Amino acid sequence: MFAHIDAFPGDPILSLNEDFQKDPRTEKVNLSIGIYFDDNGRLPVMQAVEQAEAALLADMGPRPYLPMSGLVAYRNAVQALVFGEDSPARAAGRVATLQTLGGSGALRVGADFLKRYFPQSQVWISDPSWENHRVVFERAGFTVNTYPYYDAATGGLKFDAMVDAIGKLPKQSIVLLHACCHNPTGVDLNQDQWRQLAGVLKARELLPFVDMAYQGFGEGLEEDAFAIRELERQGVPCLVANSFSKNFSLYGERCGGLSVVCNSAAEAANVLGQLTGAVRANYSNPPTHGARVVAKVLTTPELRTLWQQELADMCNRIARMRQAIHHNLRDHVSGEALSRYLTQRGMFTYTGLSADQADRLREDHGVYLLRSGRMCVAGLNERNVTVVAKAIASVLGDR
Ligand code: LMR
Repeated sequence: MFAHIDAFPGDPILSLNEDFQKDPRTEKVNLSIGIYFDDNGRLPVMQAVEQAEAALLADMGPRPYLPMSGLVAYRNAVQALVFGEDSPARAAGRVATLQTLGGSGALRVGADFLKRYFPQSQVWISDPSWENHRVVFERAGFTVNTYPYYDAATGGLKFDAMVDAIGKLPKQSIVLLHACCHNPTGVDLNQDQWRQLAGVLKARELLPFVDMAYQGFGEGLEEDAFAIRELERQGVPCLVANSFSKNFSLYGERCGGLSVVCNSAAEAANVLGQLTGAVRANYSNPPTHGARVVAKVLTTPELRTLWQQELADMCNRIARMRQAIHHNLRDHVSGEALSRYLTQRGMFTYTGLSADQADRLREDHGVYLLRSGRMCVAGLNERNVTVVAKAIASVLGDR
């Protein structure tokens, strides 16, 4: 019956992470997956999360199905964080927000929705983008193209080429954008560039789908949402996928959100209804625990302050690791190839190492990074950073 089914070739991120788990070498270093590890190389449990869970445990109560659209308190908290407490669109009821199974779930529900209502549109993602963006939209039935983004020569952004390409797209093309901490390059637009791009999206009647998986890991919670706030300010209807996997260290709880900014409350009600229908047809309704934890933290002032402090500590540690790898590589790498460790933002640095060099790092040194050359800087710590730098120097042929 199933003889015709091909073997799954694996996923460039998750399968590599599984290979890492199976690697028996004790000195191995995981810089592959986008997960924040602490300075002891452990996945942290945030105190704010622990305290929220302790409070919830004291009052667990029964566990009925959640509504198809998710927990109301969570959906409200998502909106306030993503769009801001003072968002006019929010106040006017023009934002439809749904609890989703992580950021990927938001992308997929959004993609299915778009395929149904914009069947002729094509999707445009940055070159390069998170590997799963292409997969999600292709599986939803879209043709996926790329727009210019990363400039390998400078380690920066090809902004003019990007705007030029996007400015020529047909009306209602879907443009996937990273709100902050671009994955995989760590290269973001500045605020002026977002303003300009939002104007182009509006003028061309394009449909932005903004992925914000790393809110709080760039410049700060508010600053990282600038692109979304600017789209709203310029009146550009858009979709936003957000995730609490990284900024709450709640990877396995699958806490995400999908928001659609509409032109009226009536439109938003219809959009929410159709998204809800899509959820019912897929998995009926989302799980309870993670949403309750996130909502509790975001709506309890002391827990929220604690969470923001812990998140800031994570960012500061990543910044220290950027300094440390930069320092350790200074005798082996020069110019922009070195400075990018400091200038690129968020969890990732696009090292410029080739797939062959990434293979050698993994096979010869037990240092795992993606074959695209993406390094998760959040996997570095005081103990492994020297070893990693030596391994990189070695594969660069500079022993
Ligand atoms: C990553 O980019 O490594 C993370 O977002 C994990 C994933 O699901 O790919």
